[in-house]
Order: sequence, then structure tokens, then C-alpha cells
Amino acid sequence: MDAIRTENLTKKYALGWRRGRLLALDKLNLHVHEGEVYGLLGPNGSGKSTTLKLILGLISMTSGEARVFDVPCEKVQSRLHVGFLPENPYFYKYLTGAETLEFYGRLCGMKGTHLNKRIDELLALVGLAHARDRRLAGYSKGMLQRIGLAQALIHDPKLLLLDEPTAGVDPIGSKDIRDLILRLKETGKTVLLSSHLLAQVQDVCDRIGVLNLGKMILEGRVDQLISDQRRVSITVQGLPETAREKVMETVRAAGGELVSIEHPQTTLEALFLEALNKDKRGAGEHD
Ligand SMILES: Nc1ncnc2c1ncn2[C@@H]1O[C@H](COP(=O)(O)OP(=O)(O)OP(=O)(O)O)[C@@H](O)[C@H]1O
Ligand SMILES: [Mg+2]
Repeated sequence: MDAIRTENLTKKYALGWRRGRLLALDKLNLHVHEGEVYGLLGPNGSGKSTTLKLILGLISMTSGEARVFDVPCEKVQSRLHVGFLPENPYFYKYLTGAETLEFYGRLCGMKGTHLNKRIDELLALVGLAHARDRRLAGYSKGMLQRIGLAQALIHDPKLLLLDEPTAGVDPIGSKDIRDLILRLKETGKTVLLSSHLLAQVQDVCDRIGVLNLGKMILEGRVDQLISDQRRVSITVQGLPETAREKVMETVRAAGGELVSIEHPQTTLEALFLEALNKDKRGAGEHD
């Protein structure tokens, strides 16, 4: 069974009197398998949030259908096992981290020691244990994103819908969030996330779909999409200048074409993370 299945899912937004309707999603067929991490990519306004909201039943579809674990999205039961991180989470800023989770836990019918245990577990999971008793008014953007994730996980849902989980979060924070998503996948969860930056999510997604102007324009496994089968890159170290010419001759003799010779670059993100990893001070420690 697929965790999510949409058939010709279409959404037109009414733009007001005499201004017609805007086609935000056009006959989307999306199949997210149970246990996979699926990334919905696309530029601003391509229909990613619209897709997530339709699957959650937060807005009504114009035509087509959508099912979550085979239950139509119009039915309340379809949301029982779903956690959601909205695009711009809105929290009560006077509540502390722990109180926020308690609030959402109670909404899901949780209480007592079971809920308290779950709150501590989640705060530790998202790296906010040190800030559990601080009000959200004093949380940074990345901390709010983490509390949003913890909130989505409170009732231990089987499916997570995350709208731009790494938006506004610094590289180390977004790496933490990606690691968390991978850990969730290991425990059998299904994740559908949206992003407009492939680089941010390519290492967590099993498959991605690219939306543009409400239409799916590309879909596939990430490893297959980003590997260029025709090219091979060989990285060597300590090769004298003179030997290089010999290597090139061999390549040409074998019928290959030399496209480029370059010094491999590390990514800025990798450098940033390395520097931060060397700095051993823990979060929340002050002098
Ligand atoms: N409530 C609404 N009323 C009218 N038009 C809307 C509404 N919500 C979204 N739209 C339009 O639908 C299209 C898709 O919007 P959507 O929010 O799904 O895009 P998105 O891919 O999530 O973009 P972003 O990357 O900016 O979050 C856009 O053209 C947007 O202007
Ligand atoms: Mg959006």
C-alpha cells in the first residue's frame, strides 16, 4: 500500500469576483511508498504547499482524488497517523518549549506521565533539551523549526509532511534536521517534504518530484537523477606533471574524450560544518 496516492489531483484557487481562478495544481499523480523519503521540489509558487495542504485535507481539491494509507483525504481518519510541519509555523510565544509540546500532545489526546516522557524524548531528539523551559519568544528561527518538528512527531505518526523543513536554518541546523529525517526513516516512517533547494535535501530523499507551475515536470530516484552516466571522474593525488600527459594519452588512445582536469573542490557547506565540528562547546553553554 502507498502512504500517499493522488490521482489527477487538481486545485484552482478562486481569485475573487470577476478575476477567475488560478490553476495551482494540475492533475498531479503522486505516489509515495511506505517507508520512503520523498522530496517535492520546485520554485516559489509551483504548488508544493498546495499539494501538502490538499493531502492534509486543510483545503479542498477542485477535482481528482488523494488518499493517505488508502483513506480518502476528505475523511478525518486519514489524518490520524499524520504529523505536519507547516511552512510558517505559528506558536504561542509565551509558552516554553516543553509547554508547547504539552499543548499539542493534549490536542492529540495524550496526558500524564506518558505525555511527559514523550516531551522529554522529543526535546532530546531535536536537540532542544537545554531550552525546554525557555519561552518561544526567545527561540531563534532554527530552534522554532526544531520545536515545529517535535510538535509534528508528538503522537508518533507513521507519515510526516514537512513543508520546507530546513527553511531559514543554518547549515549545521539543516544537517541536524536531515539526520533526524534519516533516523525517522530508519524507524519505518514515511516522509514527504518540500523544498526549493535540491542541494538541501538530495542526501535524504529516496525519490524526488519537481513541480513547476502546478505540473510535475520531472520525477525519479535522486541517485539516478544526479549521476551523469556518460562521465567518469577520476581523482588522483601525487601524480607528477609528466605522468599526467601519459594518462591523457591513454585516455585518448582508448577512444575517450577528456572533458576537464581540475582540482576537486570541497563544498562551502562541508567546510562550514567541519569548522563547527571542531568547536566543541555545547549548545546552551554560556559564560
Ligand atoms: N489561498 C490562495 N489563494 C489564491 N492563490 C493561492 C492561494 N494559495 C496559493 N496560491 C497560489 O497558488 C500557487 C501555488 O502556491 P503554493 O503556496 O502551493 O506554492 P509553493 O510551491 O509552496 O511556493 P513556495 O516555495 O513559495 O512556498 C501560487 O501561484 C500561489 O500564488
Ligand atoms: Mg510553499
